[in-house]
Amino acid sequence: MSGALLAISDLHVAHQENRDIVERLRPHSADDWLLVAGDVGELVADIEWALRLLSQRFAKVVWAPGNHELWTPSKDPVQLRGEQRYRHLVELCRQLGVSTPEDPYPVWQGETTAVTVAPLFVLYDYSFLPSGATTKEQALAQAYSEGIVCADEFLLHPDPYPTRDEWCRHRLAVTEQRLAERDPTLPTVLVNHFPLVRHPTEVLRYPVFAQWCGTEHTADWHLRFDAAAVVYGHLHIPRTTWQDGVRFEEVSVGYPREWRRRATRPGQLRQILPAPRG
Ligand SMILES: [Fe+2]
Ligand SMILES: [Fe+2]
Repeated sequence: MSGALLAISDLHVAHQENRDIVERLRPHSADDWLLVAGDVGELVADIEWALRLLSQRFAKVVWAPGNHELWTPSKDPVQLRGEQRYRHLVELCRQLGVSTPEDPYPVWQGETTAVTVAPLFVLYDYSFLPSGATTKEQALAQAYSEGIVCADEFLLHPDPYPTRDEWCRHRLAVTEQRLAERDPTLPTVLVNHFPLVRHPTEVLRYPVFAQWCGTEHTADWHLRFDAAAVVYGHLHIPRTTWQDGVRFEEVSVGYPREWRRRATRPGQLRQILPAPRG
């Protein structure tokens, strides 16, 4: 008996109503896996609460960090920054039995197919430039002049790297190596907080925000690494799109003010595999 591969992201459990949603999350069958594509919360204690609860309910939980997990909020007793904060969360996940981008990629075995499930942490590098900009500096200047600046600029510290884009370059190299070393006979499900391709950011309300949403360097990863599906969040625009015949699933819950406006009930788990019919 094999269960399903289900996914969700952007739980943002600092909001009580989102915490209530997490409390209600249940697998559809005892064998289901859950892919959590980042932005669980900001405080380490909140992240631990949510991942512990989910790890007790699902046969396996796989986590990729979002930008919010990497913030260092002044009110968090854990004041680790950057890489050290990420490593601290990885250790926490390991204690809970949750797979992270630093662990061997687990293989999900379905009735008819097996896939390598690869949680990724590649961040962003400001290369999704707004029109009119040709450099990161111009992109940032444009964002500041429009008053649309991601809070990461103040809260997501890249230590020990000088910049977030330097950290991203390092993560790209490490991640490419890991993916190249996977079992080449199996397709993959790639789980990353940010979309691996730029296309989904084209519907952003504020196009200048795209610079905090990914990197051009992953544009062909869904093909290069034989993805059966790509799971991401961050945009808070849940939907399914297709790129080169590959299914991209934006699985975010988002903030209460966002999900209240949607026609669908918040916190429904998206089935990644077996691929839903139609
Ligand atoms: Fe988010
Ligand atoms: Fe995010």
